[in-house]
Amino acid sequence: MALRNDQVRWGAVSQLLHWLIVALVAAQVSLALVAKHFHHGPKFVAILGMHKSLGITILALVVVRLLWRWSNPVPELPGTLKPHERALARTTHVVLYVILFALPLTGWAGSSAHGIAVRWFDLFTLPNLVGKNPALSGVLGGVHWLLAVLLGLVVVLHIAAALRHHYVLKDDTLRQMLPFGRSTVSGETGGDRARRASGV
Ligand code: HEM
Ligand code: HEM
Repeated sequence: MALRNDQVRWGAVSQLLHWLIVALVAAQVSLALVAKHFHHGPKFVAILGMHKSLGITILALVVVRLLWRWSNPVPELPGTLKPHERALARTTHVVLYVILFALPLTGWAGSSAHGIAVRWFDLFTLPNLVGKNPALSGVLGGVHWLLAVLLGLVVVLHIAAALRHHYVLKDDTLRQMLPFGRSTVSGETGGDRARRASGV
């Protein structure tokens, strides 16, 4: 599989980044929920430390992902999609990117406001984003939680759309994001596919 994207498929780098971030987000939610069971004891601190390190890793991976996206072609959406479906797909992706930035940043700023500097895997300490401020820390904690809930809702919509493409519309959208997925019409470009879909 090619490393770079083309008009028809996501390349290996984009796919790896997509699925790595999915796995890390799942780990993040699990760690946060498990930490809550330990009520601020040493295990809570250790698990939350891992949550913070992985969260910062996600932030870095999202930056790499966007830089890679801007320096590569982006596979075209199927030509069969109606304008409002295209708009919904684009909006969902933008919202996902915004949340993938906002969640780690509110977590990082919340820790700073709480007076605890964020360490990355015990290797180095990140600068505080804001000064110590318990009231702000509470607000940021609430926003962090709300963003996590919003991410869950948008991801459900995103997965439903991927499954609809695959099982109902029977197009290549999901296959384009899978390493073993192959275009149903080999050698076809996104433009060819759009023309075939519109019958021109
Ligand atoms: C995409 C990345 C992240 C996701 C999906 C995520 C998700 C979550 C979730 C679901 C919770 C539990 C919400 C609650 O009950 O309050 C939580 C709590 C928390 N997160 Fe994150 N988080 C991310 C990144 C970060 C980062 C980068 C930091 C800090 C550097 C951070 C720090 C915290 C803290 C301090 C809590 C509160 C724990 C507590 O006191 O109960 N998070 N996060
Ligand atoms: C935490 C969970 C997930 C997040 C944060 C996420 C995020 C994203 C983002 C931001 C994009 C846009 C890529 C771009 O245009 O640069 C995308 C594309 C995509 N995702 Fe996900 N995703 C998640 C889970 C999933 C799952 C579980 C599936 C499969 C069932 C999936 C299937 C796809 C597909 C097929 C695309 C390509 C859509 C297209 O070509 O327009 N995603 N994802």
